Amino acid sequence: MRTFSTASGCSAIQAVAAAAALLVMVAVSPAAQGQGASAGPPAGDPARGKAVVQSGGCLDCHRIGDRGSHAGPDLTELGSRRTPDRLRQALVDPDEEVLPENRYVRLVAKDGTVVTGRLLNQDAMSVQLITTKDELKSYLRASLREFAIVQKGLMPSVRGKLTDQQVADVVAYLSTLKAS
Ligand code: HEC
Repeated sequence: MRTFSTASGCSAIQAVAAAAALLVMVAVSPAAQGQGASAGPPAGDPARGKAVVQSGGCLDCHRIGDRGSHAGPDLTELGSRRTPDRLRQALVDPDEEVLPENRYVRLVAKDGTVVTGRLLNQDAMSVQLITTKDELKSYLRASLREFAIVQKGLMPSVRGKLTDQQVADVVAYLSTLKAS
C-alpha cells in the first residue's frame, strides 16, 4: 500500500512537471523564434520603464534618440539588437560579459594625457577610439605609454537599486526601442 501511494504521488508530480514544461515551451517559442512582433514583452510596463530610465541617471551615460550622453553605448534601437534576456543581464550583471562593440580603452600618452573611450579599431601600429565627448581619435602605439582594454565597472549594476519589477519595466521599455 505504502509503496503504491508513494509511486502514485511521484507520477502526479511528474505529470505536473511535464505540463509545466509544456506551458513554458508554448509561452516561449514565438519569442524565441524572434517573431510575434505584435506580442509585446511578457512582464514589465514600458511606460514605467521609460520613467525609470529618464529619472534613474541612465542618460548620464547613454543616449536614446536625441537625449542623453555618448559616454556609454547608444541605446536607441537596442531592442532590435538584444534579446530581453541579454538586456536583463546587461542591467543586473553588466560585468558578466561586455560585448566586443562595447569595449572601452584607457590610454596614457607619453606626455601623461589620459584618454578613455570606446574602441573602434586597432592594428599593429595604431589605435582608434571615440571619446566620451564624441571625438574620433587615432593614436600611434609608439606614442603611448599605456594602453589597456577596460572590461569591468563600466556600467553600474542596478542590483539593489531597482526592484525586480522596475528591472522588468526597464527591459520592457528597452525592448520597444527598435529601428522603424
Ligand atoms: C556610469 C555610466 C553608466 C550609467 C549611469 C549607466 N550605464 Fe549602461 N552602460 C554603460 C557602459 C560603459 C556600458 C558598456 C559596457 C557594458 O556593457 O558593461 C553599458 C551597457 C549597458 C547596456 C548594454 C548595451 C548593449 O549594447 O548590449 C544596457 C542595456 C544599459 N547599459 C542600460 C542602462 C540603464 C537602463 C541604465 C540606468 C538604470 C544605465 N545603463 C546606466 C555605462 C553606464
